[in-house]
Amino acid sequence: MTQVSSIILAAGKGTRMKSQLPKVLHGLCGRPMLSHVICAASDAGVNRNIVVIGHGAEMVREKITGSNMEWVDQLEQLGTGHAVMQAESSLVDFKGDVIILCGDTPLITSDTLTKLMQKHASEGNAGTVLTAIMDDPTGYGRVVRDLDESVQEIVEHKDASKEQLQIKEINTGIYCFNSAKLFSYLQEVSPANAQGEYYLTDVLAILKREGQKIGATVVADPLETMGINNRVQLAEAEKIMRLRILHRLMMDGVTIVDPGNTYVDKDVIIGADSVVYPGTIIEGKCSLGTECEIGPYSRLRDVEVGQRVTIQNSIILESTVADEVNIGPFAYIRPGTVLKESVKVGDFVEIKKSVVGKGSKVPHLSYVGDAEIGENVNIGAGTITCNYDGSSKSKTIIGNNAFVGSNTNFVAPVEVGENAVIGAGSTVTKSVPDGSLCVERSKQIVYPEWVARKNKKK
Ligand code: UD1
Ligand code: CA
Repeated sequence: MTQVSSIILAAGKGTRMKSQLPKVLHGLCGRPMLSHVICAASDAGVNRNIVVIGHGAEMVREKITGSNMEWVDQLEQLGTGHAVMQAESSLVDFKGDVIILCGDTPLITSDTLTKLMQKHASEGNAGTVLTAIMDDPTGYGRVVRDLDESVQEIVEHKDASKEQLQIKEINTGIYCFNSAKLFSYLQEVSPANAQGEYYLTDVLAILKREGQKIGATVVADPLETMGINNRVQLAEAEKIMRLRILHRLMMDGVTIVDPGNTYVDKDVIIGADSVVYPGTIIEGKCSLGTECEIGPYSRLRDVEVGQRVTIQNSIILESTVADEVNIGPFAYIRPGTVLKESVKVGDFVEIKKSVVGKGSKVPHLSYVGDAEIGENVNIGAGTITCNYDGSSKSKTIIGNNAFVGSNTNFVAPVEVGENAVIGAGSTVTKSVPDGSLCVERSKQIVYPEWVARKNKKK
């Protein structure tokens, strides 16, 4: 098979984003838009991705990681043709095809790129352009065809004649070229046009003039080639991508109760027969098992969740949740938490960087931080681990089968043995041995008939 390399143009500033962040780093569905483009190229079988960067190059290099990636700098943005020229030295000995993509068209799919490459190969073209039919082609380069329908040239909006402006077939900015021919004819492109730029599009007409074969293929869904220039378009694209992700999940057996009100990032895996209720946001890299019930109104970010887990109205960040765990409503599970099988975390509970052992329960109104809780432990309502002394954090360790009465304070560092019992209301400052009872509270005093005596004095 022919080797294929991509050249992804991403040097432009993206002025209309009004942002400190380079345009191609703006995210949708959990990834920077440039990553989506690279992913589509890789999925279509591209072996090397050469990304042309300029504005914010340092930041782009730092934020985008992946295999088969190479960076090329375009110090001055003199046009799309000039941008492609910067990749020439990387491809001197390259015998295959190149696909040209834009870093700001995150909706492009690998299917479309595969079809473009197939058409390019089967027609034996030197260059093939992906086009789209637009009701409103304003701003785009127009595809000018001969009487026999073959592509003649692409004319930029600013350079087009009145007749050419009527053409509804536009250049999407995505092409497949024979690499050697592209670079040899690119040298003939001149900036003698309305914008004074080196237009990549001019290469097609040059190829044709030189007797090379060029072609075009119309994209089935023009939305795929939508370029993002401002945050309104970013939100539109995110919505389209979101619905694609939800569609894939539903086809794979996940119930999404209200797709218009559910937000799932691209790198999320959910097992079959799980149900996601409205108002739920599942972000970053998450993997959820089968038969879970997630939501309503929950937010999960970078979490690993087992099977048959229920999570209601809760937030879970960077944590691991084993099978049959029950969380919420209104729990806040912070980074570094591990909830083992069948744990219950109830309402108004916050857990941070702690391990809760199999079958243990933290049912109501507790703060558990920097703790190791064993198996089958019951943590009574209102229990607090006092893990912070104003300067450093300390651990609370609670053994298997311990019973912690309500309103206990554990002043860490402190350790409670297996089978120990803590009386309600205790402030535990010293370790409690296995099997013992710890009660720390002042003696209850009762003054009989105190109320009657008090009233008599009046
Ligand atoms: C380009 C096409 C136009 C097409 C449109 C589709 C040309 C001359 N025109 O126009 O036919 O309809 O895309 O969206 O190619 N870039 C660089 N370096 C540069 C210039 C651009 O990296 O010097 C990058 C931009 O960051 C962007 C992409 O190339 O990702 C397209 O550039 P842009 O200026 O948006 O091209 P258009 O004028 O829209
Ligand atoms: Ca553009």
